Amino acid sequence: MKVGMMSELADKGAARTAWIRSRMPLLAEARADFARSRPFNGHCIGMSLHLEPKTAVLLEVLAAGGADIVATGNHGSTQDDVVAYLREQGMTVFGSRDDTLEQHHENVASVVSARPTILLDNGADLAAGIVEAGLTGSVIGGTEETTSGGVRLRRELDGRVPFPVIVINDSMLKAVGENRHGVGQSVVESIMRITNLMIPGRRFVVAGYGWCGRGIAQYLRAFGGKVAVAEVDELKMFEAALDGYRVAPLAELAGWGDFFITATGFPDIITPEIVELLADGAVLANAGHFPWEIDTASLYASASSVTELDAAIERIELPDGRSVVLLAGGRMVNLAGREPKGNSLEAMDLGFLLQSLSLERVASSASALPAGAQPVPDDLERTIARRFLRALHADR
Ligand code: NAI
Repeated sequence: MKVGMMSELADKGAARTAWIRSRMPLLAEARADFARSRPFNGHCIGMSLHLEPKTAVLLEVLAAGGADIVATGNHGSTQDDVVAYLREQGMTVFGSRDDTLEQHHENVASVVSARPTILLDNGADLAAGIVEAGLTGSVIGGTEETTSGGVRLRRELDGRVPFPVIVINDSMLKAVGENRHGVGQSVVESIMRITNLMIPGRRFVVAGYGWCGRGIAQYLRAFGGKVAVAEVDELKMFEAALDGYRVAPLAELAGWGDFFITATGFPDIITPEIVELLADGAVLANAGHFPWEIDTASLYASASSVTELDAAIERIELPDGRSVVLLAGGRMVNLAGREPKGNSLEAMDLGFLLQSLSLERVASSASALPAGAQPVPDDLERTIARRFLRALHADR
């Protein structure tokens, strides 16, 4: 890209980030504190997280605290103007919106090769890369943003990560503030914006009644949607039933729903067997971290034709004459879809304050923390809850 175009792109990223920054009071306070205390002096923070304006504000906070930043995004959700802006701020950033999956993996490998001392991870990609590259000795600790990354650290990487990783998702504040209310609102808003369809009276099936699923179901119902829940955990089924939703196995709900939204964190929820049972015109969307909840490979392979109806909407014609509509190619609909906004500013101000203070704790006390995945320290949760409530009531 030409230099003039690059700087135009960076200006756009700067302007969008400035608006977002002005609406994130918790991060503004952390930035002022960090600029005084410089907790990350001498550290390189390696990051793999959605590259959007809210993340740019988080990176500014960490840089104000003295960190060198080496970052990449997640596949399919990188915003090029934000990348250009961050590069102008002196950060090393890999990735672009159109990266293939292979390029994305190369970006993650480039962050690992930069030998970060602290990780800000998403989906445990960096932790796995550090383990594979035999670089665990140079890392003092890190944070992990997601449920899926927490699961990976505790299963696939169990016993192989010798440094502490604070799992931000293991925090009541994040679960309620971000996963339930942030994801609930933004997934429903994204579906409305992408499809332009009406919610009231439509039949929605939410697969997974964890924190995200609860929020998605709640916001759909608030708009007048008829909502059913498919779960595998009997306690969550119990909760969904008492919250007033129809609860049944996905196969049973397949012919009933107009819309299907997955939020489980696990692969192969919408399988070819489920697709067989869908009504003509059913719409499929995913909110879970990995693009594996809808088996899109099988869906595309079985298609007689695929038509891009509009940005982030494809109609997939099936050989038996039915068609299904797939949103955002089965990637996270609120981040990878059309003109993605991600979670609300307040939800991310909260979530990223959790990130900032957890990273500060890692920088100051890594040797006092146990190795491996662990929850956010209770004192940090309480401090952040107090700050959030103060900010919420500041303008009343
Ligand atoms: P969670 O662990 O609270 O809930 C997942 C639920 O799915 C559990 O209740 C589990 O029993 C259920 N489940 C598992 N297998 C199932 C199956 N085969 N059928 C039906 N239900 C099944 O996790 P949480 O926090 O709700 O996160 C869900 C996913 O959303 C994760 O991949 C997470 O990384 C992602 N996420 C996405 C965000 C976004 O902005 N789109 C933001 C935060 C998390």
